[in-house]
Amino acid sequence: MQGIRVVCLLIILTSSTKFALADTEALKILLLRNNCTACHMIDKRKYGPTLKEVAAKYAGDEAALDKLAAKIRAGGTGDWGEDMMPPQPQVSKADALTIARYILALE
Ligand code: HEC
Repeated sequence: MQGIRVVCLLIILTSSTKFALADTEALKILLLRNNCTACHMIDKRKYGPTLKEVAAKYAGDEAALDKLAAKIRAGGTGDWGEDMMPPQPQVSKADALTIARYILALE
């Protein structure tokens, strides 16, 4: 019995890790496709915050998903300093939500 439980736990753990990796890959593709990578990398500073910094700042904030999805399309300034993020109207609302969800899932 004990052995079966351990095996089940291992399956759950490894499959959730794979899921997280797949999400990060999907995020990278969306960032490239929408030209976000001109300014943002996941864990290296270019212009504006790294996306891991964004995830850390909003961890546990239930309003963050909608706020970030809106900001991705509208751009803005003042949350990270004086640099300005230009509006990104080429990003659909659905893609903005997906990108925000993947960003918030970064660890
Ligand atoms: C020209 C450079 C530039 C581009 C292109 C750009 N950003 Fe930004 N981004 C910034 C800057 C600068 C900030 C910080 C703004 C601030 O302080 O409020 C920022 C902030 C953010 C934040 C944090 C918002 C917050 O309120 O904390 C997210 C999320 C984000 N960008 C995602 C994206 C995504 C996704 C794309 C592509 C669709 C993108 N950015 C394209 C420069 C850019």
